Amino acid sequence: MDLLKVKKNDVLLKACLKEPVPYVPVWYMRQAGRYQPEYRAIRQKYSFFEISHNPEICAEVTKLPVTQLGVDAAILFADIMTPLKSIGINVDIVEGIGPVIENPIRSEKDLEGIRLLNPGNDIPFVQETIKILRDKLDVPLIGFAGAPFTLASYLIEGGPSKGYHITKGFMYSKPHLWQNLMARLSDLTISYLEAQIEAGAQIVQVFDSWVGALNSEDYHQYIAPFMHYIFSELKKTGVPTIYFASGATHLLKEWNELPVDVISLDWRTTIEEVRNQHIDKALQGNLDPSLLLAPFDLIKKRTKAILDQGKDKPGFIFNLGHGIFPSVKVDTLKKLTDYIHQYTRKDPVN
Ligand code: CP3
Repeated sequence: MDLLKVKKNDVLLKACLKEPVPYVPVWYMRQAGRYQPEYRAIRQKYSFFEISHNPEICAEVTKLPVTQLGVDAAILFADIMTPLKSIGINVDIVEGIGPVIENPIRSEKDLEGIRLLNPGNDIPFVQETIKILRDKLDVPLIGFAGAPFTLASYLIEGGPSKGYHITKGFMYSKPHLWQNLMARLSDLTISYLEAQIEAGAQIVQVFDSWVGALNSEDYHQYIAPFMHYIFSELKKTGVPTIYFASGATHLLKEWNELPVDVISLDWRTTIEEVRNQHIDKALQGNLDPSLLLAPFDLIKKRTKAILDQGKDKPGFIFNLGHGIFPSVKVDTLKKLTDYIHQYTRKDPVN
């Protein structure tokens, strides 16, 4: 890993590797997005994919929260659908809904289009954006991808879902097809993340947002082997890895067995509860994003409680339990970031 290339702030990289840090690093899932007036202004002119496919604009949008909030990382502005779109799957991001797929997967024939990325042809804009950012940023750049279950849920349901019934029905009733789909999506995810790392991403986060819909037996049988494969391949790059899901506290024991560096928690558990289960990975989390609408005193109180549990052991990163949503105020996040840095900063003489 090219640590020396981080010009200034490598606090997040250190926290991922459980090394001592001068303060708790913080970044926010969905830190670039519609809660920012500047982003909304850019979105007036361009669609989501127009932004993410244009390296100059994409780099600007990725960097904005770093400048505006003072967070300790940038996360590439893209979507978990980006690699699928780039191999020719017809996906659109519909405002207020999310990703919508024109031809949901139903049969073996539908799997044929899911193939490895050829980075130079399929995602030159991602590589170019990362190169621009590495030149401009003084914090680490996080790359990311969706995990196979979460991608499959969109591909099979055709869009967002509440119960994931079609996806689970597919998994239970067509086990061979399911294995085939998971294997293809795993290879796609690996090739996408490797391309980002090759271009200069210094940490990668894998979003398995909806996998908490499975119980641990099903996770173990249908998902864990593929996640093991993905993180084992990524380990070879030397870049730290983070794994996130929402509503997946019941899967933490499974996750602890994966060759991943950091587990990203939602708000349904506490750092202490997780540590008590002998989860020994670095942890990231876990303020409920809804709290960002609360009076600042309450935000501070709940944040302090998280920091008091996380800050004194190596390997803790502050984040939200899920992404920021559009009605949050930029100023709230700025104050929160300053508070976290100031409250956890160690005395310089120590
Ligand atoms: O964190 C960041 O700032 C990086 C950018 C990022 C986006 N999507 C940009 C985005 C990341 C990391 C994602 C991941 C993503 N996308 C996930 C995993 C994380 C999670 O939230 O669970 C999922 C499930 C998606 C799918 C998706 N894309 C949804 C549910 C939505 C929201 C739809 C809406 O209208 O609110 C999107 C669209 C999307 N992705 C937006 C952004 C900034 C809003 C796009 C817009 O401006 O219209």
